[in-house]
Amino acid sequence: MPGAPKLHRVAGLFQVVTYGVGNIIGAGIYVLVGAASGLAGGAVWMAFLVGAVIALFTGLSYAELVSMYPRDASEYTYIGRAYGNKALSFLGQWMMLITEMVAAAAVSLGFAYYFQSILPSSIPLVAAGLLAALTIIAIKGIKQSLTLNTVLSAIAIGGLLIVIAAAVPKFGSVNYTISPTGTAGIFGAAILVFFAYIGFDNIANLAEETKRPQRNLPRGLLIAVAITTVLYVLVGISAVTLAAPQKLAVSDAPLALAASATFGSTAYDVLTLAALLTTLNTVLVMLITSSRIVYGMSNEGVLPKALGRISKRTGTPILASLFTFLVALLFIPIGNVGIVAKITSFGSLVVFIIVNFALLHLRRTAPHFKRPFKVPLNIGWVSVTAVLGAVSCFLLLTQFDLLSIGLGLLLPISGMIVYVFTKGGKILEIDKKLHQQHEKR
Ligand code: ALA
Repeated sequence: MPGAPKLHRVAGLFQVVTYGVGNIIGAGIYVLVGAASGLAGGAVWMAFLVGAVIALFTGLSYAELVSMYPRDASEYTYIGRAYGNKALSFLGQWMMLITEMVAAAAVSLGFAYYFQSILPSSIPLVAAGLLAALTIIAIKGIKQSLTLNTVLSAIAIGGLLIVIAAAVPKFGSVNYTISPTGTAGIFGAAILVFFAYIGFDNIANLAEETKRPQRNLPRGLLIAVAITTVLYVLVGISAVTLAAPQKLAVSDAPLALAASATFGSTAYDVLTLAALLTTLNTVLVMLITSSRIVYGMSNEGVLPKALGRISKRTGTPILASLFTFLVALLFIPIGNVGIVAKITSFGSLVVFIIVNFALLHLRRTAPHFKRPFKVPLNIGWVSVTAVLGAVSCFLLLTQFDLLSIGLGLLLPISGMIVYVFTKGGKILEIDKKLHQQHEKR
């Protein structure tokens, strides 16, 4: 948490990778794989591949940025400062923040889906209760230890490996190239499962705890995306091998359903427990990250000062945490994890476009800044993968349905309204100083 004593640099590459994997795996694979299978049928793995390609291009840009600015939550500050235009800088920061908050709501709903599959209950109530409980934990300043994080990541992966193991003997028993609605179904599913990759960007938060961050963060980020891609594609293939896509589509706990087809009801319970722990962990990280961004933005005068106050008693920004909770809570009554996940993905794709442009912008305006990790494939200062990242994110955005676009647009619109009141604080004054420092080095 901001204001806390300096952290020890204890995390090596292994911990960075497990932290990344723990952040990435959540409701996307455990819940949305069901609805995605309904849309893309046996070809659902292709949807995961589309999501992976987009995540990888943008992940490369993040890797370079993280190596340039290995400080906690640095990329949001830096995105805010990368552009010469104040409104645009503010909007970049705001989109990152609000998207993280909506994501917390989406994953909480995912938790509630699995919860209700073992104990009939109201999905919005359980999701809201989880948000409230984890907000209290975040306020109390109970930071997750890296060891606990490694254990939870192992559980998240373990659940997926059980599903894959259940399907291996039956691999090849269904057609993996047919989508009931053709490419439209695959892209519809890709929009849903893109959510499953969100979270690799949070690796930057580990910067101050990582040994040799300029080397370990970019590598860890890319390895985490690679590991989850392989797991997701295999789980996509496994799910449709074990259960009919239409059954998966209507299940609240699709991976539990899939695993139980081979291993019986014990596997159902084990998978449910893994899903509950995995989603709970993801929500906690998202709440802590969001409150950290709120804190940072208020310290820069972008959001009201009160939100950046650190409580003397807990050492955490209580108002920032409550603000995060309330915004996430707003999206809970929607009740449908798919819809809230799509709003998140809409926001993330916009953020990823901004990040890719930020990388290009800095390549041009701060060419001498030290880049311990520089993305390969360049034409002059232009990074080919950053251009492909921005273009692919944009193309996926064009595939969204009107409802998701309408709801997704609420995110930048809310930012514009806040900007009218706050005028974006001091973003650009800091920006100038930072750039002068860059070029002096
Ligand atoms: N990737 C995260 C999840 O699937 C957001 O829950």
